[in-house]
This record gives sequence, structure tokens and C-alpha cells, in this order.
Amino acid sequence: MINTKKMKYYYIATMGCQMNEYDSDSIGSILQGQGLLSTESPDKADLIIINTCTVREKADQKAFSLLGRMIIIKKKRSNIVLGMMGCIAQQEGRALLKKFPELDLVIGTREKGNISSMLDRIVNNGERIAATDISLTSIHNFKHSEVFFKGRIKSNLSIMEGCNNFCSYCIVPYVRGREESRPQEDIVKEAKMLVKQGVKEITLLGQNVNSYSAGKGGKVKFPELLKNIAEIEGLHRIRFTTSHPKDLSDDLINAFIEIEKLCQHMHLPFQSGSDRILKLMNRKYTSKEYMRLVSMLRDINPGFSITSDVIVGFPGESEDDFKKTLDLIEKIEFDNLFSFKYSDRKGTKAAEMPDKLDETEKASRLKTLQDLQKEKTLLRNKRLEGKTEEVLVDGLSKLGTQYSGRTGTNKIINFNSDTNVIGDIVKVKVNRAFINSLNGELLI
Ligand code: 5AD
Ligand code: SF4
Repeated sequence: MINTKKMKYYYIATMGCQMNEYDSDSIGSILQGQGLLSTESPDKADLIIINTCTVREKADQKAFSLLGRMIIIKKKRSNIVLGMMGCIAQQEGRALLKKFPELDLVIGTREKGNISSMLDRIVNNGERIAATDISLTSIHNFKHSEVFFKGRIKSNLSIMEGCNNFCSYCIVPYVRGREESRPQEDIVKEAKMLVKQGVKEITLLGQNVNSYSAGKGGKVKFPELLKNIAEIEGLHRIRFTTSHPKDLSDDLINAFIEIEKLCQHMHLPFQSGSDRILKLMNRKYTSKEYMRLVSMLRDINPGFSITSDVIVGFPGESEDDFKKTLDLIEKIEFDNLFSFKYSDRKGTKAAEMPDKLDETEKASRLKTLQDLQKEKTLLRNKRLEGKTEEVLVDGLSKLGTQYSGRTGTNKIINFNSDTNVIGDIVKVKVNRAFINSLNGELLI
């Protein structure tokens, strides 16, 4: 039990992916269940936690620069507790305590459920703790606040953790451990808890949700889990991320026809259009196989939204390999694409590979690719002009002058309304399409 006399406000800075957002929510919910209050200001906080990402070098730099700023706060108010969690915490472990004397707590990716007892030991016994056992199964049934998600329209839900794929460039299997699927009953229970608090849209999370396998003999597969979650009354939309192309089954593709609540969108990272590079990446599919999956999805519905991840400048990537990536982008017309310059991660196979490209070449390829994708995104968005979309309204537009929501295909759409429609599902006619958003009119 945390001594709330000594600790009142907590501040969590979340970096990186949706899994980290989910983990920060879990910690927030535990802390609020113990009587702590959230603050947006680290200067006011008694407990500061940085939830870190280490997927690329830039993420590392961001985390350590934030840690530097938090250390300045701690130097002024020595009685506060400063912690680090997430992938850097897992990777570096106890070494972080040695390197940063101001740091009190290092929480690995599977240890978050134990935060209360750790804080108790820090506050009451003056210990410094590094807990990074990657062989653990994360605890999910911790004591938490029953109202943490109140007021939220959308939320994430982790259905599995870890990754067994060992793509040669990727640090994730090392910092998130082996794949482990959560029992279906636990997931459905958590989804019901979210819906009870008003959540309308749930995004199921895993490094590779397509390989979800739970229950006796691993019989419960992902499509069945989706069907059972879709039965929850009051839940309007389901999304999931991330999918690995090598595990995308016909059953899962059919789920998009059978389950109405499942949004017509899939994030399906392709990483490279060159089969030679895909092999070096250990991705276990060819560009042709990837394209076949995309056509199956777009056969269901030509408007089916496909988003993806791609890496440019993988070790040994030739001009010709890069051209193959551009060709694939040209052919597929992704709705959106997250593109990254290859970044060496210590301990991965790719880090040991020869023929590294220099930063200027990587940057130039990235720009060429992003310019092409911008055209494609606009093209896909323009095809929606004149069409009517179902929109879950989740707030106001960036400028605060209109309402804003997401289409089922996950595109941002802004529109005017005389009444407050936040949290509602409404019909909006698309009038104009831009690269980053759509503009439309509310239909009564
Ligand atoms: N360098 C660049 N991008 C990477 N990603 C993962 N590891 C690296 C790396 N070492 C990208 C992949 C993945 C996304 C989450 O991050 O595209 O799909
Ligand atoms: Fe990394 Fe590959 Fe696992 Fe995705 S599937 S987390 S890219 S190793």
C-alpha cells in the first residue's frame, strides 16, 4: 500500500508505441486505485515515471534527454521518487541505477503489476529498485481504479505480449520477451470493464496479434477472440494492431466480412519491397505474397484502409532494392505509411551486417519515399470525396473550431455541428480531402 501522505501526485511521460500507452494506463489505474492523483506538471509531482521506447536510436535520445530534465527537478526536490519503465528500462536494468544516482526505480516490461509494493519499499525503506525479470507473465488482475477510463471514448487493450519473430533489425523480442497470449476470459472481462466506463472503441494490441493463441491446446485463435469481443453490448468499434503478414490467415480476412464492429482497416507492416532485403530482415514473406494479402483485403472493400511500416537504408540496400520498395508503394497505394531510416540496435543480427548506408543516403531515400507516399495518401483520401462516412466523434479539431472524429478507416474528419456530438457515432458527408484529414458536413 502506498503511503499517500508522502505521495499525492504522479506524473507519467509516455514515449513510443500504443503498448507503452497501455502500460502507462495500467500504472495510472493502479496508482489512482491507491488514492494518488494524476498531474500534467512534473514540477508538482511526488512520483515521476518515464515510460521509454528503444526501437530506434532517436527514441533512446529522447528518453535520456527527458530523464535529464527530470533529474533537474529531482535535484531541487530530493524527496520525490523518480522511475523509468518500458523498453530502455528492460534493456539497461540495474545499470541505470548506477549511472543515474537520482533514479530510484527501474521497472521492466513485465513488472508493472508490482509497482505498489516497489513504491512502498522505496518510500518507507529508502531502497532503490531495478525489477526486470523478462521471464515473468505480467500480472493484469492488480487492484486498480474502477473509474480510471471514465470520459474516454477510445482505449487500448493488450491481448498478448512479446514477440518470437526476431526480425533481424528489431530490438523488441529482447525487451518484450517471448510471445504470451492472455486468456480470452481475462481480455473479455477487461473489455467489458472499459465499455462499462463509456469506452466505445477498443484497439486490441500485440506485437503480432495474428499469432494469438490461447485456451486448452492453444485452440482459441484471434478471429474467435474478435467474435467474442464483438458480442459486448455498448462496444461500437474494434481495431487491432500490429499484424505480421506471414501469419495473416483467411479466417482473419473473413472476420472483416463477418464482424460488423471490426473497422475496415489493417496496419500491416511490409518493411521492404525487395525480396532480397526481406530475407535479410528475416520477414518470411515475399513482396508478391504481401501484395496478394492486400488484394484479398481490398477485394472485400476497395475502400479498405491499409497502413504500413517501412524501413529505408537497411544494411546492403542497393538502389535497385530501394526502387522495389517504391514500386510496391506505387502499386499498393497505402492509405498511410510510417517510414523510418534504418537504425542500428545493439544485440540484433542486422547490427552485425556489413554494408551500412550513410545517414545522408538514408535521409535522401526517406524523402523520396515520403514524397511518393504523400501523393498516394492524398489520392486515397480524395476517393472519399462525396461519400458518406460513419464517424466516431472523439473531440474538437486541432484549431478547436470544429468537431473531429475518425472514420472506420481511421481517417481524421472535421465538421461543424450545432450540438455537442462528442462520443457519438454520426454520419458525415466528405466534402474535401487533404493529406492529413478530411472535411465534411454532418448529416442529420
Ligand atoms: N530501425 C528502423 N526502424 C525500425 N523499426 C523497428 N526496428 C527498427 C530499426 N532498427 C520499425 C519497423 C517496425 C516499426 C515499429 O519500427 O518498421 O514495424
Ligand atoms: Fe520487431 Fe518483427 Fe517482432 Fe515486429 S514482428 S516486434 S518488427 S521482431
